Amino acid sequence: MLSGKKVLLGITGSIAAYKAIQILRDLTAEGAEVQVVLTPAACRFVPLLTLQVFSGKPVFSDLFDPHDKVIHLTLSQDAHLILIAPATADFIAKMTAGLADDLLTSLLLSASAPIVVAPAMDIGMWEHPAVQRNIAILREWGVHIIEPETGPLASGKEGKGRLADEKTILEGIVTRLKASDRLKGEVILVTAGPTHEPIDPVRFISNRSSGRMGYALAEAAYQWGAEVILISGPSNLSVPPGVRRISVRTAEEMKKETERHCPAASIVIMAAAVCDFRPKTVSFQKIKKNTGLQSLAIEPTDDILLGLSTIKGKKLFVGFSAETENLAENAKKKLYAKGLDLIVANDVMQEGAGFDSETNVVQLFDKKGKNINIPKMSKQLLAYRILEEILRLKPPA
Ligand code: CTP
Repeated sequence: MLSGKKVLLGITGSIAAYKAIQILRDLTAEGAEVQVVLTPAACRFVPLLTLQVFSGKPVFSDLFDPHDKVIHLTLSQDAHLILIAPATADFIAKMTAGLADDLLTSLLLSASAPIVVAPAMDIGMWEHPAVQRNIAILREWGVHIIEPETGPLASGKEGKGRLADEKTILEGIVTRLKASDRLKGEVILVTAGPTHEPIDPVRFISNRSSGRMGYALAEAAYQWGAEVILISGPSNLSVPPGVRRISVRTAEEMKKETERHCPAASIVIMAAAVCDFRPKTVSFQKIKKNTGLQSLAIEPTDDILLGLSTIKGKKLFVGFSAETENLAENAKKKLYAKGLDLIVANDVMQEGAGFDSETNVVQLFDKKGKNINIPKMSKQLLAYRILEEILRLKPPA
């Protein structure tokens, strides 16, 4: 997947630095040419000889190289992508401050290649407001952050801070390196997440959607050069770099914003899990336990996709179909009833698929009758797979 690609792997002084050896092996196994650069602190954690053997190249950590006076520029300009894994809290702070006091910080300042950062630290450090502020700054600058995972930490504590799994890091690199201008000129409207339908000021009806699939599609579409508008129901996910997010709460708000932005879009991807029902009346005050609530009268919400079919024209419409039974039959019915070009169907009961999962297992049905089974994969990779199909269905300009 990475043949012909040059990755600069920057290692900083974390106890997780030993995991960089496996990351290096995974990258080279995918065909990437990897140049390793270490901070002085990282040299105390990993054997340089091991890195040299697995990368097949000399590794660097000194800014003052006797053979190349501008080694920081030579290295940064040669890379298609720079990965910092693991990245310590200290190194992240240096990046945001624009410091250049060693080879790795200096080359980052002159880099034009995409930068991916995989932090690793103890839970208290990760949650510190300074670290969170620095992570937010990096995101604003377009740096892709591969979030640490939750689990046992070197300190003996449990919590968030472990370096992301090597497989997750590899996937992050593959998706970043797939950036291209395949969707240049397209305006893509993506809806994501659940909607909240209020019962009273503190209670609502909703569903288990996390928004991951829609956010992954928005991010992938931007990576392929599209202008992306993401209309999102309540979600904890951060806005992907380059994407314009419009936050909504209810199905009615989502409908209003989708209708407002649809005319400008050439492709509409309705990944949101819009609530089909809402309470008929909303109490302005919190309903007290003692007052009781014997029953809840509900009414249907409007079908947003169906409503848009009148202004579809030459736009490409993609819907999702969340099913618990008769997947193909139900998905195809929705494809035709809602006038879609493509529908992404998943059995939300299947392991590794659906709302709350990091992965998905889907079947695609297009309006020409083509059916594609897609095996279980991360929502990030699946997003690119779906975009491939969208491109195939797009009539030539
Ligand atoms: N959808 C929509 N407006 C709604 C409900 C759904 O635009 N009020 C969209 C979804 O975003 C999705 C597609 O319609 O792209 C299918 O949604 P799904 O929940 O699978 O099906 P429904 O049409 O709601 O039918 P059912 O719940 O009976 O399966």
